[in-house]
Amino acid sequence: MSAEPPMRRALELARGAWGRTHPNPMVGAVITEGGVIVAEGFHAAAGQPHAEVMALRALGRPPKPDAVLHVTLEPCCTHGRTPPCVDAILRAGLRTVVIGATDPNPAHAGKGVQLLRAAGVAVVEGVLGEECAELNFLFNHWITVGRPLLALKVAATLDGKLVPAPGEPRDITGPEARADVHRWRRLFPAIAVTADTLLADNPRLTARDAEGEHAPVRFVLDRRFRSAGRAGLRLFTDAFRGRTIVVGLAGGARAADLAWYEAEGVTVWALPGEEADFLDAWAERCATEGLTGVLIEAGPRFASALLREGSADYLFAYVAPRLGGDPESPTWFEGVDCPLRAGKTTLFGQDALFRGYLG
Ligand SMILES: NC(=O)c1ccc[n+]([C@@H]2O[C@H](COP(=O)([O-])OP(=O)(O)OC[C@H]3O[C@@H](n4cnc5c(N)ncnc54)[C@H](OP(=O)(O)O)[C@@H]3O)[C@@H](O)[C@H]2O)c1
Repeated sequence: MSAEPPMRRALELARGAWGRTHPNPMVGAVITEGGVIVAEGFHAAAGQPHAEVMALRALGRPPKPDAVLHVTLEPCCTHGRTPPCVDAILRAGLRTVVIGATDPNPAHAGKGVQLLRAAGVAVVEGVLGEECAELNFLFNHWITVGRPLLALKVAATLDGKLVPAPGEPRDITGPEARADVHRWRRLFPAIAVTADTLLADNPRLTARDAEGEHAPVRFVLDRRFRSAGRAGLRLFTDAFRGRTIVVGLAGGARAADLAWYEAEGVTVWALPGEEADFLDAWAERCATEGLTGVLIEAGPRFASALLREGSADYLFAYVAPRLGGDPESPTWFEGVDCPLRAGKTTLFGQDALFRGYLG
């Protein structure tokens, strides 16, 4: 039997924990015997057992001699929050392991495979490797670069505007594209808007789907704390306000403003440095807090600044087939060329999503 169908099932299982495993990757595992799936598992959340262990537990007995473990990510070989999966595989007596993606952590990459092979286990690598690796694009970036993946998201008209002309409908894209945004909001551990967008739109910044409402960490990027004292904003008053973090510069922070946020139950990060250091300081702090990625829902001025300064790693550009953006508002790219690597185009109703790596 080809290793692809069980690996595809393992990928499906991994996706079952979409957005719930941070800062860990999503991983799925399937055990086959005689080519038939006999046990399945996935990693549900950080601190919970890994997918391989869950599949072995689901099997509930020693695997048969011809059993094959299919796992979307190379088994770990070091003690983290849980013991190494390589040990569990060897202890169970599995003789064949099929792997999707190599562990992206440079300190561990390939070591799990080496240890398994050294113990006489047959290892097949790279089955649906690209898909398995892409599933964890946030984790991969964070673990290799040491910073969160900063993804710029825009919803634009054909003339490059993010703000509709007066009198035009408020939503630029249709319901299918907006549902897709909610899917990504469910994946990213954090989301960000500027104070200008906060004050203009009063957004909720939650993921709303069939499973209900979920709040990632919600950043307000507000270098001079202009949002202080603004009553009635959803991010400062709703049930998830404990997940809101206002990020500004320590130098621009007035004690009265900081006291106001504290009284509202909103966390503040007052970062050191000057305006020009702000994004770096914020990204570094995010990395140390284990935030693997941030979805930045930028207005036109911030979007074009991110592109000009090369500060965004990834782009989600939803483009609606209509003109009629606000003539007073700048475009989101303002003449900056932004070729995409590993670019993908997907249609959602009448709208197109262009996404890929920047720079
Ligand atoms: N269609 C869409 O996808 C979309 C998404 C979001 C918002 N919008 C719309 O966009 C409009 C708001 O757009 P906007 O252009 O006024 O605001 P914006 O682009 O969201 O934010 C501009 C602010 O970003 C900060 N900023 C600029 N460059 C920066 C840099 N290099 N590093 C850190 N911070 C930087 C500045 O604030 P400080 O100097 O105070 O830090 C600046 O005032 C609203 O009407 C909203 O509805 C549309």
